[in-house]
Amino acid sequence: MLSGMQPTGGLHVGNYLGALRNWVEIIESGKYESLCCIVDAHAITVDYDPRELSQRTVDAAAAYIAAGVNPEHATIFVQSAVPEHTELTWYLSSVTPMGDLNRMTQFKEKGEQHKQNVNAGLFTYPILMAADILVYKATAVPVGDDQVQHLELAREIARRFNGKFGKIFPEPKPLLSKTPRIMGVDGKTKMSKSRGNTIDLLDTPKALEKKVKRAFTDPEKLQLGDPGRPEICNIFTFHQGFSTPEDVARIESDCRSGKLGCGECKQLLVKNMNAALDPIRENYADLQAHPKKVLDVLQHGAERARGRAGETMREVRSAMGLSTVR
Ligand code: ADP
Ligand code: TRP
Repeated sequence: MLSGMQPTGGLHVGNYLGALRNWVEIIESGKYESLCCIVDAHAITVDYDPRELSQRTVDAAAAYIAAGVNPEHATIFVQSAVPEHTELTWYLSSVTPMGDLNRMTQFKEKGEQHKQNVNAGLFTYPILMAADILVYKATAVPVGDDQVQHLELAREIARRFNGKFGKIFPEPKPLLSKTPRIMGVDGKTKMSKSRGNTIDLLDTPKALEKKVKRAFTDPEKLQLGDPGRPEICNIFTFHQGFSTPEDVARIESDCRSGKLGCGECKQLLVKNMNAALDPIRENYADLQAHPKKVLDVLQHGAERARGRAGETMREVRSAMGLSTVR
């Protein structure tokens, strides 16, 4: 299993329910050898502050660990510490159809958002993502549903490479969580750092409460007694992520009947979210106080990852007729 996130600011509840919490479950199931990457080389494809990036990268690693990624059960490492990812990207670009890259919806969206800086790296971003995965021959990739299209392309790249140079890569598949697409507190678009509609994993309980209280619900449920539609209510999706199955079942029926009002429903959500997030906040604060712990994990992770990636690259260079003389 391999997955990754960009170190572009704090992680939010969408990242957690869509991906990170699923990583932890998969890692702890023991079914896979697991690698969790902080993809800093992806983060440079939009404008960013080079003075902040390396600290953000370490903070992202601390957030992974705080959220339950156990460094003894998974390899946690930084993408730019393993140059094989960028080497493989170039080789894979020679089997990546331009037409496929042109269809990527994330490129179109980001191109719109960053009109002043639509660079080639933003366009070839999905090839680097394919390389992240294929360089470890990963088969399982837990992500939110916005990444499914990138994974389809990664499979196409693997097939084309294998067709031309011999079967080296397995075809990676997305593993989706039960909540693969979390909407933002504006209720309009996907929760995303770039849209300013997030609840962050490390928000204080007070900030969290404020955001939940203001969050959008079913627009037709105006007052207590009005029947609600949980299936279109974002707060209900959060309950599915943070509340017990018993609470979720009760909320669903009491919302529908009108017995449960949005105020009370939100209060319960705040309580359940804080219960889940408090330990993460505490672990994170502890790691911030002991930064060497995180740096040691990353050093060890990079060594392991380079070893694995190096093995694949020897096969790749040899299959492609590139130099194996070192
Ligand atoms: P963002 O969109 O906020 O920049 P990233 O692109 O870094 O977040 O996403 C990292 C991981 O979190 C990916 O696996 C992505 O699919 C998942 N993810 C991001 N936003 C959401 C969301 N709103 N709902 C579910 N999963 C999400
Ligand atoms: N592109 C992913 C995102 O925007 C992040 C990512 C980069 C990734 N490389 C990856 C996810 C490899 C899974 C596997 O969220």
